[in-house]
Amino acid sequence: MSRTLTIAVDGHSSTGKSTLARQLASRLDLAYVDSGAMYRAVALYGLREGCIVDQKVDAACLIARLDSIELRFGPEGIYLNGEAIEGSIRSMAVNEVVSEVSSISEVRRKLVEMQQKMGIHGGVVMDGRDIGTVVFPKADLKIYMTAHPQIRAQRRFEELKAKGKEVALEEIAKNLTDRDRQDMQRLDSPLLKADDALELDNSDLSMEQQLHWVLDKLSTD
Ligand code: DC
Repeated sequence: MSRTLTIAVDGHSSTGKSTLARQLASRLDLAYVDSGAMYRAVALYGLREGCIVDQKVDAACLIARLDSIELRFGPEGIYLNGEAIEGSIRSMAVNEVVSEVSSISEVRRKLVEMQQKMGIHGGVVMDGRDIGTVVFPKADLKIYMTAHPQIRAQRRFEELKAKGKEVALEEIAKNLTDRDRQDMQRLDSPLLKADDALELDNSDLSMEQQLHWVLDKLSTD
């Protein structure tokens, strides 16, 4: 019966959305979709195509190439035109421009359409910024995640370090604050908590505690 469930997980950058969403999907036997990876893939494509130079995004250049972008998820995460790119989309180069790329309405329209198709039969946990508000406004469960900014910066720092990427903590903290601001202030589907979303502050919660919190909400529904 849980195959038809649709769960939306939204919130700020580095609040652990994808970790929770992935665990939930595995526990409930649902598909997991990382919608942020799709925006990151478009940003990576823009960088490679020369539509983004010195952090300046040429929206017209990117929009003109949108039809040449094919995205899908597979065993190695996200694929861009057949190439596994999961290892390339979490770089600082992508971090610095992805919010601006995601503010382009044409980009959002294309990706939202793809996301809605992926969840058309339910059975999906999707994380992002507009999943409960725009992509799946009728989701069975909507979670809005928050965490203390310092904790979020530290998490991203550890994540990058584990991948052998040494980036100063202050630089990461600044990038997170900048992205929060851009994600919340953009005109097209900004990050906001849906009226019927449940807020989860996981600053001091373990993964297991977060999972219990969500499973508890599902069982009392
Ligand atoms: O979750 P993330 O940090 O990987 O997301 C990367 C960027 O994509 C983030 O700055 C906001 C944007 N995004 C969005 O606008 N809508 C989504 N559904 C998911 C991500």
